[in-house]
Amino acid sequence: MKNIFEQAYDHESFREQGYQLVDLLADYLKKATSRDYDKVLPNTSPQDQLAKWDTNNSGKNLNAFFQKVLANSTKLQHPKYMGHQVSPTLPVAALADLFSALLNNGTGVFEMGPASNALEYQICEMTAKKMGLGEQSGGFLTSGGTLANLTALLTARAIKVPDAWEEGTGKSYAFLVSEQSHYCVDRAVRIMGWGAAGAIKVKANEKFQMDNEAMKIAYEDAQKKGITVIGVVASAPSTATGSYDDLPAIGAFCKEKDLWFHVDAAHGGAFIFSKNQSYMLKGTELADSVIMDFHKMLLVPALTTAVMYKDRRLAHATFDQNASYLWSEDHTDEWENSAKVTFECTKLMMSIKVQSIIETYGFDLWEQYLDRVIYLTRYLESQINKEVDWDLACSPEANIICYRWIGGKDTEHNNTVNAAIRKRIIEEGPFYIVMTSIEGKTYLRSTLMNPLSTEQDIDELITSIKNLASDFK
Ligand SMILES: Cc1ncc(COP(=O)(O)O)c(C=O)c1O
Repeated sequence: MKNIFEQAYDHESFREQGYQLVDLLADYLKKATSRDYDKVLPNTSPQDQLAKWDTNNSGKNLNAFFQKVLANSTKLQHPKYMGHQVSPTLPVAALADLFSALLNNGTGVFEMGPASNALEYQICEMTAKKMGLGEQSGGFLTSGGTLANLTALLTARAIKVPDAWEEGTGKSYAFLVSEQSHYCVDRAVRIMGWGAAGAIKVKANEKFQMDNEAMKIAYEDAQKKGITVIGVVASAPSTATGSYDDLPAIGAFCKEKDLWFHVDAAHGGAFIFSKNQSYMLKGTELADSVIMDFHKMLLVPALTTAVMYKDRRLAHATFDQNASYLWSEDHTDEWENSAKVTFECTKLMMSIKVQSIIETYGFDLWEQYLDRVIYLTRYLESQINKEVDWDLACSPEANIICYRWIGGKDTEHNNTVNAAIRKRIIEEGPFYIVMTSIEGKTYLRSTLMNPLSTEQDIDELITSIKNLASDFK
């Protein structure tokens, strides 16, 4: 009789459980991609979900557990998923995730992740060079855009305020950021201890880009108040409307004033992999640092984000600490112990997931995917433009689009109706769309993430929201 450890590590049990799990997931994929689920979202409220799960209730049936999780999860591979910016993961990258979970070799200490550290270095160098960041460029992978932005801004602080790491910052410092930037930028600055005043919000123009003139005025105002601006954070693009800030102009301004230029390309940095769409990233080559999520527009499971620098050696200034139990004390330009430059100590084997896609499809799949989601967004835009009672927040640059019904008597009425439409859409299915508020107006919001969505899916979405709107007229 095998003891519990021998059973738990038994390779034949693993083989059997693995086959069962892959069968379950393959059936899920078949059903999801062929629109066989009648809803993207499971039919459930937060309270229902809490009642369903009990850690004391061990049924000793792993397959039944996985089936229950599946039934209660959002189906991102369903072509009618048109909601948040989370990727319908590629099956091959999910397999790489399983593979890396068992090896558990992701640690940012070379000996505990020889292959993953080397591949991470290569992937970031390749991506940084594609972004035009130049000969000395490169970086590392970290756990998500939120942490990546914090890390890059900490590097900016280490370079522009060299004493900050040892002594803290007594004086007032700030970054200029668009009022449309992702909330994590503001959060990062507050974590640095600079409070709300550390992120000077610059107003956006009618396309929801950071307004260049307002940026210059905000800089002068800060100077007058005795606040030292050390950098500018640009969005490529912003989260709500997908608007790209004017990267060439912001880059030139940063150069003129000797400011750190950081580009938050969490969502749209991926377009560098499309010959047709990479024009959106013009100006990124001027940046000191850029972050890009592989788990948004490059179909990799969460979380996998690149932090890239024009001069990758500057990353060593961010966390200048000794840890003799992990690595030698010298702080050279070593790449192999990536924990020296990342927030995490133990990390996931993120690079394996990225490379699994390149190994299988080369760069063709990303190229075609990025073109496809832009095509679908343009199609949705053109269909909405045909409708009299519908309006767009702005013409979408990337694959994020905000639209609203405007057939009511005033803004308040329209806001109520748009919120009610979104509620009914997700309750009744099959679609999943989200919602945002811009300048007091409630918009329906879609990010076209799924390359299997079709023109017919989009037509059906428009028909269902029109039918729902007519109930509220
Ligand atoms: C522009 C931008 N920056 C940062 C983030 C945060 O990224 P993550 O969810 O990977 O932490 C997002 C997420 O949507 C984003 O759109």
